[in-house]
Amino acid sequence: MSIPSRRTFAIISHPDAGKTTLTEKLLLEGGAIHLAGEVKARGANRRARSDWMKIEQQRGISVTSSVMTFSRTMDGETITFNLLDTPGHEDFSEDTYRTLTAVDSAVMVIDAAKGIEPQTRKLFEVCRLRNVPIITFINKVDREGRDPFALLDEVADALALDVCPMSWPVGMGGTFEGVFDFATGQLRQPSGPSRAFEGTVEQFSGIDDPRLADVLSAQGHETLVSEGELAQGGYASFDLAAYRHGDLTPVYFGSALKLFGVAELIDALGRHAPPPREQPAEPEPVTPDRPDVTGFIFKVQANMDPQHRDRIAFMRLCSGKFRRGMKLIPSGSGKPIAVHSPILFFAQDREIADEAYPGDIIGIPNHGTLRVGDTLSEKADVRITGLPNFAPEILRRVALRDPTKTKQLRKALDDLSEEGVIQVFYPEIGGQWIVGVVGQLQLDVLISRLEAEYKVEAVLEPSPFDTARWLGGSDADIKAFSGINRSNMAADRDGNTVFLAKSAWDVNYQQERNPDLKFSATKER
Ligand code: G4P
Repeated sequence: MSIPSRRTFAIISHPDAGKTTLTEKLLLEGGAIHLAGEVKARGANRRARSDWMKIEQQRGISVTSSVMTFSRTMDGETITFNLLDTPGHEDFSEDTYRTLTAVDSAVMVIDAAKGIEPQTRKLFEVCRLRNVPIITFINKVDREGRDPFALLDEVADALALDVCPMSWPVGMGGTFEGVFDFATGQLRQPSGPSRAFEGTVEQFSGIDDPRLADVLSAQGHETLVSEGELAQGGYASFDLAAYRHGDLTPVYFGSALKLFGVAELIDALGRHAPPPREQPAEPEPVTPDRPDVTGFIFKVQANMDPQHRDRIAFMRLCSGKFRRGMKLIPSGSGKPIAVHSPILFFAQDREIADEAYPGDIIGIPNHGTLRVGDTLSEKADVRITGLPNFAPEILRRVALRDPTKTKQLRKALDDLSEEGVIQVFYPEIGGQWIVGVVGQLQLDVLISRLEAEYKVEAVLEPSPFDTARWLGGSDADIKAFSGINRSNMAADRDGNTVFLAKSAWDVNYQQERNPDLKFSATKER
């Protein structure tokens, strides 16, 4: 089978760095027709689109922005880009992390005035776990920002990555005169009243081209020549293998708002970012050219209306050619399901597309049969591994309003943790159970689903613990450690030993004192 080219990626950033703006501009530049609810489709496509919106309304599930797609022809090959949304702000949750397990690469957006911020760093760590290659986009160079060298050094030091500047800003803010691309020798300059990029590109032989003095101010020219030389000489040169291995990040300077660097970013994704990668699996890894269909569920979105049990499971296709109506076997239940009404996230013909290829995402409506971490396959002869649980960052004690409902609560917590909504920990001492999440929204979902689906009224109370780590090591070491720290020990839903810690400091302290044990922030499902 010849596999159509895919680049499946996500954008990681801290709120306000410009992810939304960059997403819009990527779609615009990439020619995707649906942008912020706008559709210019005709005929059948328009009908398909409105049908789709009706489904969203009926189900009360908004998935419109979960996966966005555009394509571009490069060197005679049409490449489809699948951009997966990583929910941020209030809806930051484990889904945000899990989405990163379904991509082959990521774009890290950094605000030029702020540098690396906490959420960027957290998401970066998840990428690093799986060696997901990262392209860095330093945004907002049209505004006053930090010194570009300081920004590069911060990325290199904070994230322990080699950095390779691919382009350079000629000044920032009031002195901004454009962005120079080292590889192509092209200079893009602002024009018009908005000082945006309007499409005029000038070609030069390099930063030492004397003609640059004609288009830049004396100060701008001096900045580009002196800084550009240092930038090219002082950092690693671009190395595709190092990038794809997650050891080096190419860095682009730009302004999403004013369209600087956006086309270069698409170009870099198309040329350098990896096509669908091999997935870890048992009994052996799944390669994209495997003929039969395999995929895994990385996210399940429940209906916002608690009376409806409808869910959309998001499957990342790992191999084979998917066709509508196909029968697939989920590893969870083992019972084949016919996928008659998949949601295929193609910009123009989402509802009527009938096929999907490795790297694509398919939304599968279901009533709770599909769970996060499930493998779907044609023959049930493979299980895709490596989809982890992430250490919770918010822990709460669950207290029942009606103490006779303990059994129902336990069932509900087990179910919801298996589904991936929350994690649950049963402490060794004391009867109160602890739930863990990475975002507040997950707690709200927990309470409303407990009431609606399990008729259990519960309240969440502060917990003495701040985070959790899965313990690894020899049985004897774990037993000895657990004996000394009983009040911190718990079991997760699958009976794994978990250390509940009062702080990250506590984890480090225990790790130093117990070098033979592994305090793991992730657990493979
Ligand atoms: P997010 O999704 O990462 O949270 O960021 P978003 O795109 O919403 O951008 C946050 C703010 O930054 C927006 O300002 C947006 O216009 C601005 N912004 C994004 N990219 C650029 C850029 O390249 N240059 C400049 N100058 N601004 C940029 P806002 O919502 O209009 O309002 P405010 O936050 O400035 O009040």
